[in-house]
Amino acid sequence: MYRKLAFSHLNNPGECLIKPADMIYNQWYVILESKELKRNKPLRIKRFNERLVLWRNENSEISCISDECCHRGASLACGKIINGKLECPFHGFIYDKSGIVQIIPANGKNRSVPETMKVRAYSSFESYGFIWLWWGDNIKIIGDPFFFKELEHFSYSGFKDHWNVHYSRAIENQLDVVHLPFVHKTTIGRGNKTLVNGPVVLRDKELITFYVWNVEDDGKTIPLKPDEIPDYKKLFHLQFHYPNIWQNFISDKIRAFAAFVPVDEENSIIYIRYYQRLIQIPLLKEFFNFIGKISSIIILRQDKRVVITQLPKKSGLKMDERLITGDKPIIEYRKHRQELIDSNQKDTIQ
Ligand code: FES
Ligand SMILES: [Fe+2]
Repeated sequence: MYRKLAFSHLNNPGECLIKPADMIYNQWYVILESKELKRNKPLRIKRFNERLVLWRNENSEISCISDECCHRGASLACGKIINGKLECPFHGFIYDKSGIVQIIPANGKNRSVPETMKVRAYSSFESYGFIWLWWGDNIKIIGDPFFFKELEHFSYSGFKDHWNVHYSRAIENQLDVVHLPFVHKTTIGRGNKTLVNGPVVLRDKELITFYVWNVEDDGKTIPLKPDEIPDYKKLFHLQFHYPNIWQNFISDKIRAFAAFVPVDEENSIIYIRYYQRLIQIPLLKEFFNFIGKISSIIILRQDKRVVITQLPKKSGLKMDERLITGDKPIIEYRKHRQELIDSNQKDTIQ
C-alpha cells in the first residue's frame, strides 16, 4: 500500500542553504501528499519560503529543485519533462534531478555547459502516502524520516487545509490543552472541563508525549501539578515528533494524525488524517473513515477560527506572552525547538 523511494539525489554535498534563522535545520519535513504529485507533470509549491518544483520520472522517482531558472528566472514548473529531465519553458535549458543544466539549446547540443549553470537541488523521500524533503545539508542526512509506524496497519481518510499562520502556531494549537472547553465547546471540549491538571509532558529525543486530565471546576479544587498525578500513563495522551508531525491517541484503534507544513513566515498547510483499524469491511470502512474525516474538519475549523487571529503569526522561545502551568506542552515545544535550531545551526552558514 505504501511506496518507499530512495533519496532522489545528493548533488551538492556540503553546500549550505541560506536559511530562515527560525527553522530547524537538518531535518526531514513532510511537505506534500504523494497523490498531489502526478507522473509527468511538474508541480510548483512554496515551502520554507522558497519556490520549489517537483516532478516524477517514468519510474515515479521524485526530483525536487529550485523553481527559478538560473538563466533568467522563469518558473521551471511551467516547463516539460523530457526523459526524466525538466526543460525550462523560456529558452529550453534542460535540468537534471541534481539541478544541473545539461543542455543549453542556443549554444548547441554538443557544447559543454559551464559549471555555474545550476540551481539548488533537494533530497526527498516518499512513504506512507507522504513526500518528505530534507531541509539542510545533504551530507547530514542521517536516515529515513520518522513516522508513527504503527499507523501502517490502519486505514485512513484525510484532507488538507491552508492556514494564514506560521507552522509553529499551527503546531502549538495541537499541543494546547487549555483551549478545549472554549474552542471546542460543542465537540471534543464538551463538559465544561476548564480545570487543567498537570499536564504531564515527557520528552524522548525528538518525541514529545503529553497526558491530559482536564476536569470541571467545582470552585474548591486546585489543579494537580504534573508530579502529583498518579498513574498518568492511563490518561488520554497525544504525541508530537519534530519537526512537524503529531498524533492523537483517541483509542487503541483510532488516531488523529496531522502534519504541519511550513510555507512561509505567515502561512502553513495542515494535512489531517483520520486513522482507524476498528472496521475493516470494505465500503463500511470507507464510510466510517469519511465520517471520521468530516468530524476532523469540523474540529479543525473550530481551531482555525481562533488561531489565525493570533499575533504575532509565528511563535518563538522569547516572545511577549504570559504562559500558565497548563501551557506546559507549548513551553516544552518552544524550548526544545530552540535547542534543535541552535544545535543544527552551529556549523552551517547563516
Ligand atoms: S529563463 Fe530558463 S532557459 Fe531562459
Ligand atoms: Fe483544538
